[in-house]
Amino acid sequence: MKAKQNAKTDALTWIVTGGAGFIGANFIFYMMENYPDERVVCLDKLTYAGNLSTLKSVMEKPNFRFAYLDICDREGVRRLFAEERPDIVVNFAAESHVDRSIETPDVFLNTNILGTSTLIDACREFGISRFHQVSTDEVYGDLPLDRPDLFFTEETPLHTSSPYSASKAGADLLVMAYHRTYGLPVTISRCSNNYGPFHFPEKLIPLMIINALHDKPLPVYGEGVNVRDWLYVEDHCRAIDFIVRHGRVGEVYNVGGHNERRNIDIVRSICRELGKPENLITHVTDRKGHDMRYAIDPSKIQRELGWLPKTNFEDGLKKTIRWYLEHERWWKEIISGEYRNYYEKMYGSRKVIS
Ligand code: NAD
Ligand code: DAU
Repeated sequence: MKAKQNAKTDALTWIVTGGAGFIGANFIFYMMENYPDERVVCLDKLTYAGNLSTLKSVMEKPNFRFAYLDICDREGVRRLFAEERPDIVVNFAAESHVDRSIETPDVFLNTNILGTSTLIDACREFGISRFHQVSTDEVYGDLPLDRPDLFFTEETPLHTSSPYSASKAGADLLVMAYHRTYGLPVTISRCSNNYGPFHFPEKLIPLMIINALHDKPLPVYGEGVNVRDWLYVEDHCRAIDFIVRHGRVGEVYNVGGHNERRNIDIVRSICRELGKPENLITHVTDRKGHDMRYAIDPSKIQRELGWLPKTNFEDGLKKTIRWYLEHERWWKEIISGEYRNYYEKMYGSRKVIS
C-alpha cells in the first residue's frame, strides 16, 4: 500500500489499540519481528484483560511506545494522534468476553461502539492511510449443527446473539458508514476463535488448561456440542498484516482456517495432552443465547491476498499448552488477583448438570 510517511522519520507509524491484550500483543510481537524499521504505538486502557507484563519484551525498544489511554477519551486520543501522526491505526481494543457482556452490556457498548467512533473521528481529522477494524465472526450469528455445508461469507447478513457481538456489529456498521460518507480508508477483518500465548484465562482453552493443571473441575457449558472454528493467533496477525498492506479499501475479509471442533472435544484433547482424567469434565448450566456453530469461509482472503494459515490445530494446541506450562508466572499473577472473584461469581452460581 502507499502510506503517508511520518513527518519525523521515513518509517510508517502504527497505532495499535488494545495491544496489551491477547491478540493485540501477539500482533505487536509480529510487527516488531517482521518490520523492525516501523514504529508501533500501543494505546491501551489496561482493563482487567490488559497486562503490561505481556509487553515486557518490547517495552524498551526504540521503535515502541506505550500510551496508557482509553479509546473513549476523545481529547486524549486527539492528543496522541497529534503527537504521533499515525499512518495506520489497527483497532483491537474491545471488551471481548461474551459471558461478561451478558452481565454488563453497557461497558461493551461504550468501548466497542463509542470507542471505535472516537478513533475513526481522530482518523478523519488527522488523515490516516488506513483504519483497520478487528472484528469477529460472531457478527454473523450462528449456523445450525445439522448443516455442515453452510459457512459465513462476507455477504452473510449480520445477525447477532449477544451484547458483545451486537456491539461489534454496531462498530462494523459505523466503520463502513465512515468509509461511504467521508471516504475514510478502512478495512475490516472478521476472524474465528483465536488461541495461543497470552490468552486471558477466562476463555475456553486457557481456562481449561489452567483448571486441569490444578485438577479442578472443567466447566463445559451444556452438552459441549457447540462448535467453534479455531485459528492460531499468529495466523490471525499475519492475516491483518496482509489486509492492511494489500487488501482493498472498503472491504471486509473473513479470516479462518476451516478448523471446526466441538467444545467437548477440545476439552478432551487438553486432558489427553496434560495426562489428566476426563472425569474432571463437569457439564454446567449453558450460556444464555449460546451460539451453536461458527464456521468461516476464508476463500476471499486466500484468493485475493494469498493468505493461508501456517499452524494446524494439533501443533497449535501442543505449542499453546507448552507455553502455559513454561509461563506459569504470567497466568498465576492473573488468577491470584481479581480473577478469583470473577471465577467465583461466574462459575459458583452455575448448576452442575452432569
Ligand atoms: P482481550 O480482551 O484479550 O484484550 C482487549 C484489550 O483491549 C486489553 O488490552 C484491554 O486493556 C484493551 N481495552 C479494553 N477496553 C479499552 C478501552 N476502552 N480503551 C483502550 N483499551 C481498551 O481481547 P482479544 O481476545 O485480544 O481480542 C482483541 C480484538 O479481537 C477484539 O476487538 C475482539 O473483538 C477481536 N477478536 C477476538 C477473537 C478471539 O478469539 N479472541 C476473535 C476474533 C476477533
Ligand atoms: O469467534 C470469535 C470470538 O471467539 C471472539 O469474537 C471473542 O472475543 C472470543 O471471546 C471468542 O468467543 P467465544 O464465546 O466463542 O469464546 P469462549 O472462549 O468464551 O468460549 C468458547 C466456547 O466454549 C463457547 O461455546 C462457550 C464454551 N465455554 C466457554 C467457557 C469460558 C465453556 O463451555 N466453558 C467455559 O468455561
